[in-house]
Amino acid sequence: MPLQTLQATRLDWPMNWPQRFGREAPMLLEIGFGGGHFLLDLAARRPDANIMGIEVSLPAIRRAEQKLKTAVFHHVQLIQGSAHTVLWTGCAPAIFDEVYVNFPDPWPKHPQRRVINDTFLHLLASRMGENGRLAIATDHADYAEWITDCLERTPYFTSRLPTSFVTEDNERLRTKYEQFAIADGRTCHYYHWQRNKTAVANPFHPPKERPMPHTILRTPLTLSEISGRFNKPYASEGGYTVRLIEIFQSPHYPALLIDTYISEPALNQHVALSIHQRDDGTMIVGLREIGFPRPTNGVHFAIHAVTQWLLGLHPDTVLVKSNLNFDDT
Ligand SMILES: C[S@@+](CC[C@H](N)C(=O)[O-])C[C@H]1O[C@@H](n2cnc3c(N)ncnc32)[C@H](O)[C@@H]1O
Repeated sequence: MPLQTLQATRLDWPMNWPQRFGREAPMLLEIGFGGGHFLLDLAARRPDANIMGIEVSLPAIRRAEQKLKTAVFHHVQLIQGSAHTVLWTGCAPAIFDEVYVNFPDPWPKHPQRRVINDTFLHLLASRMGENGRLAIATDHADYAEWITDCLERTPYFTSRLPTSFVTEDNERLRTKYEQFAIADGRTCHYYHWQRNKTAVANPFHPPKERPMPHTILRTPLTLSEISGRFNKPYASEGGYTVRLIEIFQSPHYPALLIDTYISEPALNQHVALSIHQRDDGTMIVGLREIGFPRPTNGVHFAIHAVTQWLLGLHPDTVLVKSNLNFDDT
């Protein structure tokens, strides 16, 4: 299998990873591998394993790809995307034997953005097999306290050491960040935990993919009038949040394009919605196929939000047809 970075948005929900790797083997995962220094070492030490790396940063992925191609490894798979989304949507329960999170971003001013939190450990526990090993390292004192609290709170992991963490670990390869931290005299915290026998509930089901959503409206408003009344509407309901960022009118085509952020529990999507005036004068609200959007409940909710906004713009606007469904029950 040649090295080809996968996009989180394009994964099967969930992926058949042994099939992708071409063999059944222990599954090892590094989250936030940066330039790939540690991942490369892991790949060299563990030819017996299937090795996955998840990283959000494209420049970091390009650096890692270069190193991995030079070394010709065939048992490594890189994925670009957020670990939360890849684990939730692209990974079946209990597939990982070892997970490494090396020096995750500490987000000192926005701790809510930290990768490690209670929900993440629950999600990770659901994707790890019994006795699966979890190693985390950080050089940030406040994040270390946060990680210690999260690990000590979770029922699903147990420390493999007599203490929750150690501040020296000379067994492992030092990552780039670790080298900077040690050179700067910062204390590193190393966590060596493992998945215990406590059964884990799995509320993290892959999202349903629905038919391509659309609604049809009849309205006396023109596209220019609709565009002129755009006031960045925002809608939130049942775990879905929609932010309509900007609206664009085509000078050549009877349509408006709306730049839209959609957030739902498993994933965030940045998509283009459209309002297209048809020959019979009706307007069709839909999703454009730009950037491989997935027609999830959240996208159906976004089309609903645009439709409600349009219905509120003029009392004579009526809904003619809709195939929307964002109800999971
Ligand atoms: C501080 S760097 C550490 C890099 C490397 N692990 C090291 O120790 O040298 C944190 C890395 O995590 C990545 N990252 C941040 N949030 C992430 C997420 N939600 N999923 C996957 N990777 C993430 C960042 O892009 C960055 O490369």
